[in-house]
Amino acid sequence: MDNTARHIRENTLDTQHTKEWLRRFQRVRAMSEAICAPLQTEDYVVQSMPDVSPPKWHLAHVSWFFEAFLLTPYLKSYKTIDPAYDFLFNSYYETHGVPFPRNQRGNISRPTVADVYRFRAHIDEAMTQLLTEPSAEHIDEIMELVEIGLHHEQQHQELLVMDIKHILAQNPLHPVYRSDAAPASSAEAPALTWQRYPGGVRHIGADFGNGFVFDSETPRHRQYVTDFELADRPVTNGEFIDFIEDGGYSRTELWLSDGWHLLHKTGWQAPLYWEKHNGQWHHMTLGGLKPVDLHAPVCHVSFYEADAFANWAGARLPTEAEWEIAAADSLVDGNVPAGNFLDDQHLQPLTATVTGDRPWQMFGDVWEWTGSAYRPYPGFKKLDGSLGEYNGKFMSGQMVLRGGCCATPQDHIRATYRNFFPPHARWAFSGFRLAKDV
Ligand SMILES: [Fe+2]
Repeated sequence: MDNTARHIRENTLDTQHTKEWLRRFQRVRAMSEAICAPLQTEDYVVQSMPDVSPPKWHLAHVSWFFEAFLLTPYLKSYKTIDPAYDFLFNSYYETHGVPFPRNQRGNISRPTVADVYRFRAHIDEAMTQLLTEPSAEHIDEIMELVEIGLHHEQQHQELLVMDIKHILAQNPLHPVYRSDAAPASSAEAPALTWQRYPGGVRHIGADFGNGFVFDSETPRHRQYVTDFELADRPVTNGEFIDFIEDGGYSRTELWLSDGWHLLHKTGWQAPLYWEKHNGQWHHMTLGGLKPVDLHAPVCHVSFYEADAFANWAGARLPTEAEWEIAAADSLVDGNVPAGNFLDDQHLQPLTATVTGDRPWQMFGDVWEWTGSAYRPYPGFKKLDGSLGEYNGKFMSGQMVLRGGCCATPQDHIRATYRNFFPPHARWAFSGFRLAKDV
């Protein structure tokens, strides 16, 4: 076999492999549309705040990602439906072209929702062709980009759930997205106990080459931690109500200065989506307005609220290294354990069904704020080309959250996964657990 023939043979996907990729591609793409299936056309276009994107925009943008980074460069026969989409649906890739302003995405009433679904079908057809007959010359790049494209779409699935909730929550009629979402539970949260971890030089982070990871999770590196204790479950709504009733939102000594000033600007007195009716806390869920479940993890709090609560409780937030060390203990054969994820369709953090080794609920239910800033790990290198803009350029002014939530696809989360939001953000499914020095 000459070198060219060997190259082609080694770099061509066999039929079985191709089918697996196609199935995965179709499964991820179908989930995005399933999330939007309960929406009315009017819901697709609303931008309820600059951080929220209209559902229509998400559906188009994740398709644009495949067009811009895979189809245009690697499928010779590919023709775009409309060259304007390359501008309208580029999120923030400045090296690719000038993106349409983020805070104006709600003004794009055209292309219509139907046009966007046609764009998705067009991309699906072209991607099927690319995956079925990938160019042997570029097979490694193509498969790497398909993997990123699918994880990117899964990130947007969680954003879709967050944004749909925020959009519907603006409506005083409390519209129900799905009547079976946010089911009631009679379970009780277990009493909080502390798990102790010895200090020393530990390893956190990931290396490329052992399954998919984002560049921001790399490289795996040494990290010194002192002895610490971590709560075996997240803070509950009931515990957060104790904080509120103890004057938590009016005691300046508990708050970071930025958080205190924000309280005065916004008038926050409780987590996002909470409102009191007849003396009882209720909250907007994707199943409509419901009483707050005292035993479920508190959710939709900012980093500032989490930090103030920790001060009130005589504790602190864990660092991301401490969180990751503890999370490694809750893996089952190296895998993320069963939990409350997007796949479970509850779309609301629930009281833990407590089984297995502690700590519990490290994965699913709520993202957990850490006390760590989102900064590069020692030796971090961003990806080459436009995709170098994916993570690295956001490494200022944001805090790390860990563990995934009830809107995260289960096969999208890992112990090393670093999510990030600015400290004031509350519309993610964000909660927290406590840590302590020993
Ligand atoms: Fe994106």
